[in-house]
Amino acid sequence: MALSAEDRALVRALWKKLGSNVGVYTTEALERTFLAFPATKTYFSHLDLSPGSSQVRAHGQKVADALSLAVERLDDLPHALSALSRLHACQLRVDPASFQLLGHCLLVTLARHYPGDFSPALQASLDKFLSHVISALVSEYR
Ligand code: HEM
Repeated sequence: MALSAEDRALVRALWKKLGSNVGVYTTEALERTFLAFPATKTYFSHLDLSPGSSQVRAHGQKVADALSLAVERLDDLPHALSALSRLHACQLRVDPASFQLLGHCLLVTLARHYPGDFSPALQASLDKFLSHVISALVSEYR
C-alpha cells in the first residue's frame, strides 16, 4: 500500500524526535530479534552477540543510518537501498522472511520508548514504512 502524505508526515516527525538516538533503538531491536528469533543469530556468528556488545551497537548504527536514509528518500526507496539489497541477497544470503522479524522488533522497541506517541495511526504508518523498506531490500533477490 502506498505511503500517504499523512504516513510520511508521521514517520518523518517521529524520526525527527528520535534525533541522534535512532541507533540506540535499532540496537535494542537487533537484541530483541536475536532473543525472540534465535535463528537470526546464525548470520552474525562472527560477531559478539552478548548483551551490551559494542559490535551489535556498531551494527545497530549501520542499520539506523540505512533507515534514516530511507526516511529521507521515501520517494526513491528501491534505488536508495539497491546496493544494500544486493548485499543481503547475493553476498549475505539473508532469508528475506527475517526482515519482517527485525521490523516487528523495531516497532515493539519504538512503542516501548514512545508510548505517548504510539497511536494506532503512527503504528500503521510505521508498519507501512517498514514494509516499503523491506520490499526495497528484497527487490534484488532473484
Ligand atoms: C549488514 C541494513 C536486516 C544481516 C548490514 C549493513 C546495513 C544493513 C546498513 C551494513 C552494510 C555494509 O557494511 O556495507 C539492514 C536493514 C535491515 C537489515 C536496513 C532491515 C530493516 C537484516 C536482517 C539480517 C541482516 C534481518 C539477518 C537476520 C546482516 C548481516 C550483515 C548486514 C549478516 C553483515 C554484518 C557484518 O559482517 O558486519 N545490514 N539490514 N540484516 N546485515 Fe542487514
